[in-house]
Amino acid sequence: MADWPPERPQTPGEKPEHPDFPGRRSFLALLLGVGTVIVGALLSVPLFRFVLFPVFKSTTGTKWATIGPISKFEGITGPVQADVNVEQQDGWREIYSQKSVFVIPWHDNSSNGNVRVLSAICPHMGCLVHFNKDTNQFDCPCHGSIFAADGALVRGPAQRGLDPLPQKIVDGKLRMLFEYFREGIKQRIVVSR
Ligand code: FES
Repeated sequence: MADWPPERPQTPGEKPEHPDFPGRRSFLALLLGVGTVIVGALLSVPLFRFVLFPVFKSTTGTKWATIGPISKFEGITGPVQADVNVEQQDGWREIYSQKSVFVIPWHDNSSNGNVRVLSAICPHMGCLVHFNKDTNQFDCPCHGSIFAADGALVRGPAQRGLDPLPQKIVDGKLRMLFEYFREGIKQRIVVSR
């Protein structure tokens, strides 16, 4: 079979290409190939970053959520339950869910509006606690843990009191950062937020 492309006929006086030293055409072809590889690699960087973004980014990120105007909780004398819409980033997805918290009176001379925000998740195994106005205590319906009105542990099997959540007041609104804590242990360890 004939070679392709066909060899260019030698012009009179032109020196033949030395087999060990590729001529100008071969060098240009090599340069073109290397250039193509480099440009291709550069162009693929944004594509890789786009695809791998969720892998290298922290997958979960809960945003601060608004509970309500702080004026709503001024002067409360006992726990007030609030269901709060929380936005969470999970890789590419934005997840919206409702979290149950309790706002309790808390006098600590801080700028937190004299309230404290507690998670309603029982630190034993994660059931939601209820506030019992008759006993002035929180009850867990699952295994009977009881917590005082300030969230302190009264009776197990839970190993610690209800978990306080980070809170702040912005533009007159009480805000909180929802966190999950390790269940079943005495220490308060954040496992995700
Ligand atoms: S989950 Fe609350 S006592 Fe077990």
